[in-house]
Amino acid sequence: MTDTSTRTMGRKMTIGNGGTPALMAGVAGFGLGMMVSAGRKAASQAATFAAGDWFEGLKAEHQAARTLLEQLAATREEDVAKRAALVLELQYAMGKHQVQEEYVIYCVVAEHGHSDVAEALNTDHFEVKQGLYALEMIGKAKGPGFLEKVAAIRTAFESHVREEEDVVFPTLQAMLTEDEKKALTSRMNREGFKVA
Ligand SMILES: [Fe+2]
Ligand SMILES: [Fe+2]
Repeated sequence: MTDTSTRTMGRKMTIGNGGTPALMAGVAGFGLGMMVSAGRKAASQAATFAAGDWFEGLKAEHQAARTLLEQLAATREEDVAKRAALVLELQYAMGKHQVQEEYVIYCVVAEHGHSDVAEALNTDHFEVKQGLYALEMIGKAKGPGFLEKVAAIRTAFESHVREEEDVVFPTLQAMLTEDEKKALTSRMNREGFKVA
């Protein structure tokens, strides 16, 4: 975060000292783009952040992904554009969710002596990524098997979520002090914001 703002400040100073109008317009556009991007990121992370706790935030994201999967399961073969948009949305949402878990939560799970569990959950994530990629390809080719693939992803996703919400995350939560919970929540939100 600090590195990025330092780099951005350095760039502004260099161009400000001898920049052409075209360059200056480009910089203004870049700045506006950064603001829009920060606003979009804040909006994407808002529900997770509002949950107030890392575990509640992840549960909210599970529910959002579940809803998208339900919407996909309700599509028909002719809904080509809708399917593509929903798959993209899922890849985006799952990507952010998985980064938060993989870069922060699973690392803490491993730190507390459960690296085997963290590894298994990581493997599940790859299966979901593979499933979504396959879904994207089937959708593009307008091939058969789209709904069957959606059903397989839903089953894998639900089993993974049950393990997280019923076993792994409550166990981790019980091991943490109140200060550690707060620190973990803020660390996870920071990671989510990066990729939101
Ligand atoms: Fe997960
Ligand atoms: Fe999860």
